[in-house]
Parts: sequence; C-alpha cells; structure tokens
Amino acid sequence: MIATALGVVGVPVLAACGGGGGTTATPSSGEAIATLADLADGVPTVVMAQDTPVVLTRSGDTVTALSGVCTHQGCTVRNDGANLLCPCHGSMFGFDGAVTNGPATEPLPAVAVAVQGGEVVIA
Ligand code: FES
Repeated sequence: MIATALGVVGVPVLAACGGGGGTTATPSSGEAIATLADLADGVPTVVMAQDTPVVLTRSGDTVTALSGVCTHQGCTVRNDGANLLCPCHGSMFGFDGAVTNGPATEPLPAVAVAVQGGEVVIA
C-alpha cells in the first residue's frame, strides 16, 4: 500500500465504487497525481486526481492514463489483474479502456498526462 500527499492510495486496486453517478470533478492541468516510483511497470493503477479516479499505466519512463470512471453509471473501476472491472454492475474494460463486458457500451476515455521530473501530471 502506498500513501502519499499526491493521492495515491494503493497498488494495483486503489479505489472503491463511487456509489453510482460518478463525480464531476475534473483534474487540473499541471496537477501532480503520482510519481513514477509509485507505479509498478505495466500494472494499471487507479489514483485519485481531485476526487476523480484515473488509471495510470507505466511503461518505463512513460505513463498513459485512462479515466477510472465507469462509462455505465460512474462507479470507479479497479484492476482485477486481467481487466479494469467495475464493481457496481460488472462492466469490464481492457487495459486499453475498450469495453470487454457490459452493461457499459463506451470505452474509458484517455486522460492526457505527462511525466515531469519524475512526477505524473495532468497535461
Ligand atoms: S456503473 Fe459500472 S457497470 Fe454500472
């Protein structure tokens, strides 16, 4: 378990269901949401950015990001080891965000991030 002031709360499944309805908070550009050291290589990890879950996947010194908000009704997805699973109604997404099992029909959208000085920031 990793806990930092940046909001990383664990690896690889870090966030619980948002209780439906999701969140409307939007991460701010330039907001640091994790450090490279927080992220295991190749393991999608859910972190919180201003109360909004974001799935970060590190590959070496680069990081890609997806929204961690299920596109069905807004619960927070978690990494079950093989998929990004929504605990509310069972939707599953591949680590690329594509829907692999409904009821969600839309993929998890990409979130623009950058690595600056070892920190992952919202781009
Ligand atoms: S909110 Fe994710 S499956 Fe319903």
